Amino acid sequence: MYSKTFYIETLGCQMNKSDSEKISGILENLGYEEKFSPEDSSLLIMNTCSIRAMSENKAYSYLGVWKKLKQKNPAVKIAMCGCVAQQTKQKVFAKAPQVDLVFGTQNINELPLLLEKLENQERVCSVLQKPVHMQDSSVPSRKEGVSAWLPIIEGCDYFCTYCVVPYTRGRQRSRMPGDIIKEARQIASEGFKEIILLGQTVDSYGNDIDNPGINLANLLKELNNIDEIARIRFVTSHPADITDELIYNVKELGKVCEYFHIPMQSGSTEVLKRMRRPYTREEYLELIKKIRKEMPGVGLTSDFIAGFPGETEEQFEQTLSMLDEVTFDHCNTAAYSPRKQTPAAVWKDQLPYDEKKRRLNILNKKVRETVQKSQEKYIGKTLEVLVEGFKEDDGKITLTGRTRANKIAHFPGDKDLVGTLVNVHIKQTSIWSLIGEINLS
Ligand code: SAH
Ligand code: SF4
Ligand code: F3S
Repeated sequence: MYSKTFYIETLGCQMNKSDSEKISGILENLGYEEKFSPEDSSLLIMNTCSIRAMSENKAYSYLGVWKKLKQKNPAVKIAMCGCVAQQTKQKVFAKAPQVDLVFGTQNINELPLLLEKLENQERVCSVLQKPVHMQDSSVPSRKEGVSAWLPIIEGCDYFCTYCVVPYTRGRQRSRMPGDIIKEARQIASEGFKEIILLGQTVDSYGNDIDNPGINLANLLKELNNIDEIARIRFVTSHPADITDELIYNVKELGKVCEYFHIPMQSGSTEVLKRMRRPYTREEYLELIKKIRKEMPGVGLTSDFIAGFPGETEEQFEQTLSMLDEVTFDHCNTAAYSPRKQTPAAVWKDQLPYDEKKRRLNILNKKVRETVQKSQEKYIGKTLEVLVEGFKEDDGKITLTGRTRANKIAHFPGDKDLVGTLVNVHIKQTSIWSLIGEINLS
């Protein structure tokens, strides 16, 4: 084992993955080498997610495994960062005594200093309570590939009654367009073909800056001019912040993919109100209609929560009927999980665990059914696919990529096509993806 080697386990959303790239960049700059197995590393970093109890538990169960590695080799240092670290602070040490270093979501740039401190101190904890603007001093170490994540806004001002994000990531902060464009050019020069703009509510971009010209629609327009980039995407959109101008630019700008991830959370207006989501079922449906009218081939995905406190059977059924009505291309689902600091966690009308699970199972079945139905429309179509990778099996190569609508497609072809745009004729569908052949004509 090298003395300066590290391994990062990243749980949670793309923002965490992007943070891990920053952490890798900082550590590589300090002379550390990244390893892909914890057994080979002297510094183990757990980048945690707090969105549900299950994600938090997962972090601690990994730490249980790492504890054994540390028992074998006491020189190993264990660090915890991310959203659980931000919420739990030094109490992590009581829950998991094998942890040496805890740092918050706003403390990534301090890492060199914290590691230095750790040389003389048994334990170090640094969690900044006040959110800071994203700093550009660190250069993220992006993994090789076709797509690169580019965070443009951090935090969230919505304070939905179930969600920890405003507590773990702080209030909304947008980066300045100049910094984003500079980083996008850097990404392009490194050979990436696709940029995925990131934010908890990516379409709120610019709302916190006193300049009405700074918004996602205009940012997309500028990014569309970067020659080497073939595609641009953005996630996650909040339904209340999708403007007509944004829809128009997604339709008109050649590199911006016709795809929106718009979490709805519940099909019932009453539940939405208690979730503090500022729209009704009807308004959400109107929005979908408007987007589809402009872009009939648009890809639409969403998130739904089953078993929110006080959700009646009837209100749950409104979520199911929503899926029939919209036929999304995919939906993420979860049983409601009470989270520390959030208002809904202490409400009296919590549903029993088994009931939440029962509803989640029904919801998942409905998702499978409706997603399969939504895929039928692609059969016989020829779609533009950005080739992202390949699998080799018995000398046979299967390429994998995504359509503009963000559908995964598999098709035979040459490895050299990775990173290029090809047209694929869709012949059949599997449960979550499309299967076809490259169309050479
Ligand atoms: N910013 C996005 C969502 C970020 S969190 C938005 O506003 O839509 C990702 C998803 O996790 C949410 O869309 C929600 O469906 C789910 N989620 C968040 N908190 C949850 C909780 N307490 N229990 C279950 N699911 C939750
Ligand atoms: Fe959480 Fe709501 Fe903010 Fe999304 S909009 S991150 S669900 S508080
Ligand atoms: Fe999880 Fe934090 Fe992302 S709670 S979903 S890692 S912002």
